[in-house]
Amino acid sequence: MSIPIKPSLTASILLLATLHLVGCGDQGTDQVLKLGHSLPTSHPVHKALEQMALQVQQASQGTLRMDIYPNEQLGSEREMVEQVQLGSLHLVKTSASPLEGFIPEIGVFTVPYLFDDAAHLWETLEGEIGRELLDSGKGKGLIGLCYYDAGSRSFYTKERPIDRPGDLEGLKIRVQNSKTAMQMVEAMGGAPTPIAFGELYTSLEQGVVDGAENNPPSFLSSRHYEVCKFYGLDEHSSVPDVVLVSEAAWNRLTEAQQDIIRQAANDAAMFQRELWQQETKRALETLEAEGVEISRPDKAPFRASVQALHESYRNTPVGDLIARIRQLRTAPSE
Ligand code: GCU
Repeated sequence: MSIPIKPSLTASILLLATLHLVGCGDQGTDQVLKLGHSLPTSHPVHKALEQMALQVQQASQGTLRMDIYPNEQLGSEREMVEQVQLGSLHLVKTSASPLEGFIPEIGVFTVPYLFDDAAHLWETLEGEIGRELLDSGKGKGLIGLCYYDAGSRSFYTKERPIDRPGDLEGLKIRVQNSKTAMQMVEAMGGAPTPIAFGELYTSLEQGVVDGAENNPPSFLSSRHYEVCKFYGLDEHSSVPDVVLVSEAAWNRLTEAQQDIIRQAANDAAMFQRELWQQETKRALETLEAEGVEISRPDKAPFRASVQALHESYRNTPVGDLIARIRQLRTAPSE
């Protein structure tokens, strides 16, 4: 359940809290950093964030503390990113998709069928492009720390399986707050409906939408499978998650504190990637045991349906990034 916060009220209250908590560190006073995210506590992302919090506490000998607010308690991902921009929230873990409303180039990660495989995705994220995009929120109040694995997203539906794009015809499909995600579902023939993750269970249950799309651990831990019994693994996109820190809060930390946070973020990201593999396998097994019909459709018609979308990016900043990402696979290895 999300507990939406009224922006006008929170902006001022939380800003005061930030100034108080992050601004008075030099006297050895404990400082609290708040991190918000959208997922339940059973999700591998939450477990990795808990490890990050523990490492921050230990490495700072208790002078820095990171409090985690899961389940969209602080608002939708979009709202949390806004709070981080304002400095009223210190950190957020968000999918890269809603970030494109703040940093348009990050929209590249939501482009369907962009990566050949997981190795291609990680080569991109760990290389120059990944670093550039983490840094691209600087000056907009957002500093990217690291990426988390969010696997591949596929459609899950209430009434019938999605085995070819035509099956989406006439169906309302929940997407993240992202123009690219909307364009993708439209190109495939469905009717995209952006809804916050925390509101999706009820929206599915009440028939506001007929289906959604996500990776197996999120489909499982959100319990959306209780309502949607069909999961067609077309794996249309591999949108990573991103951990971001508020530029305002960051600038108030000492260099030593910044190093502690960076190190803890990187170590937790490695842990999260390990967890991801086993959790994805476990999620698929559990979903099947819970009566979800899992299919593995031919991806070719899905790819073909977004061909024109890919071409529409030509000569745009996202198009240039797509070309560089594709180039990683065609260039001879160094
Ligand atoms: C993924 C992602 C979340 C996001 C969710 C969504 O599970 O990890 O950060 O909230 O997708 O579809 O909204």
